[in-house]
Amino acid sequence: MPRHTTMYLYELAWMLPSVAIPVGMLAALAVTAFGAHIGLPGDEGRVHPATVMQTAPFDQPGVVEIAPGRYEVRMLSGIWFFSPAEVRVPEGPEVTFVMTSKDVIHGFMLRAANVNAMLLPGQVTRVTTRFPKAGTYPFLCHEYCGIAHHTMAGKIIVEPRS
Ligand code: CUA
Repeated sequence: MPRHTTMYLYELAWMLPSVAIPVGMLAALAVTAFGAHIGLPGDEGRVHPATVMQTAPFDQPGVVEIAPGRYEVRMLSGIWFFSPAEVRVPEGPEVTFVMTSKDVIHGFMLRAANVNAMLLPGQVTRVTTRFPKAGTYPFLCHEYCGIAHHTMAGKIIVEPRS
């Protein structure tokens, strides 16, 4: 084989992956975004961390039925707590979590309902999910936030329809 042909094949061997890899990554992005419903945090609004405990809706954390069959959990996080740490919702409807942090970056991992969100001070995080069935579902902080990070946890109790 002439020398210049060998050089051309080497060049081709490098060029093809440099096209195939970005195309593959773009395809993976499309599959996770539209197939697995994995999304980035949206621009849900801001709240000042210093006054968040006096600012609605975080001044009254808890569960609210915002419309018939639609529930919203308003949750505040901080070192080292979730408020509320225990949430009760009925089985069936969609549940929207509206959350933020009052100090450092925390996380909200609720595996059973496919929720994995970051709670940033100053930023409101909104996630809507549905629980597979009645039961108790633990959630925890999965962003290292200091000495008692491992104690930051809570649970969602999905009550069966009577
Ligand atoms: Cu909060 Cu880790």
